[in-house]
Amino acid sequence: MLEVINLHTYYGLSHILFDVSLEVKQGQVACLLGRNGAGKTTTLKRIMGLVTPKEGKIIFRGEDITGAQPYILARKGMGYVPDDRRIFADLSVRDNLEIAARKRNGKEEWTIERVYDLFPSLKAFSDRRGSLLSGGEQKMLAIGRALMTNPELLLLDEPTEGLAPLLVNNLRETIEKLKSAGLTVLLAEQNVKFTLRLSDYGYIIDDGRICYQGKVNELISSEEVRKMCGI
Ligand SMILES: Nc1ncnc2c1ncn2[C@@H]1O[C@H](COP(=O)(O)OP(=O)(O)OP(=O)(O)O)[C@@H](O)[C@H]1O
Ligand SMILES: [Mg+2]
Repeated sequence: MLEVINLHTYYGLSHILFDVSLEVKQGQVACLLGRNGAGKTTTLKRIMGLVTPKEGKIIFRGEDITGAQPYILARKGMGYVPDDRRIFADLSVRDNLEIAARKRNGKEEWTIERVYDLFPSLKAFSDRRGSLLSGGEQKMLAIGRALMTNPELLLLDEPTEGLAPLLVNNLRETIEKLKSAGLTVLLAEQNVKFTLRLSDYGYIIDDGRICYQGKVNELISSEEVRKMCGI
C-alpha cells in the first residue's frame, strides 16, 4: 500500500530524517515508535506532502507520489490525523464531519451515521461546537473527519497522547474495528504497549533514523527492543 524509500528531510539547515525507509502492507497496522523528537511527526508529514520533499521516494498504491500536494494525496485515498487534531473550533461536530466528506471512486463507505456508530459520544454532541469538546472527543472527531474522506490508508499521529486510560482502551478497540473493516494504518506513537498490541509490523525511530524493524512478535521478544522501549 505504502512504500517509503530512503527519505531525508530538513527543516531549514537542520537535517531531521536520515535515510528513512518503511513499508505498510495492505490491511495491516504498521507502527512507528519513538520517543519525543525522534522524527515520527516529521515522517508522517513528509508522507502526507506537508514538508518540502528533498531526497527520497514515496510510492502509494503502486504510484510514485513523491512531492504530491496533500489535497491530491487525500483524493488518492490517504487520510491523515495530525497530532494537534485541527478540527474546526467554531463548527458543530456534524458540520466538521460533513465538510470533510469525500466520495472516492463513487463509493461512499463512510457516512456520518457510520462515524456516529463508531463513536456514539460524538452523536450525542452532534450540535456542539468543536471547541467545547473534551480532548478525547476532539481526537474522536479528528479520526471521524479523516474517515469521512473514505481513505485506504490512515496515518495516525500519536492518537493516545493526553487520553485517559479508559479512552486509550476504547481507541484500541476502534482501531481494531477499522482494521477488520479493511483499513490500512500507519500509527506513530510513544505508547509502546498500546501500539504493539495493535500492530502487525513495527519500526523504531531514534534521532531521525529507523534503528529497528520487524514483525511485532519479533520486536517484543528482542532484548534490545525491550530495553530501548522500556518494556
Ligand atoms: N518546524 C520545525 N522546525 C525546525 N525543527 C523542527 C520542526 N519541527 C520539528 N523539528 C525538530 O525535528 C525533530 C523531530 O521532530 P518530530 O516532531 O518529528 O518528532 P516526534 O517523534 O514527532 O516527537 P513527539 O513525540 O514529541 O511528537 C526534533 O528534533 C524537532 O525539534
Ligand atoms: Mg510528534
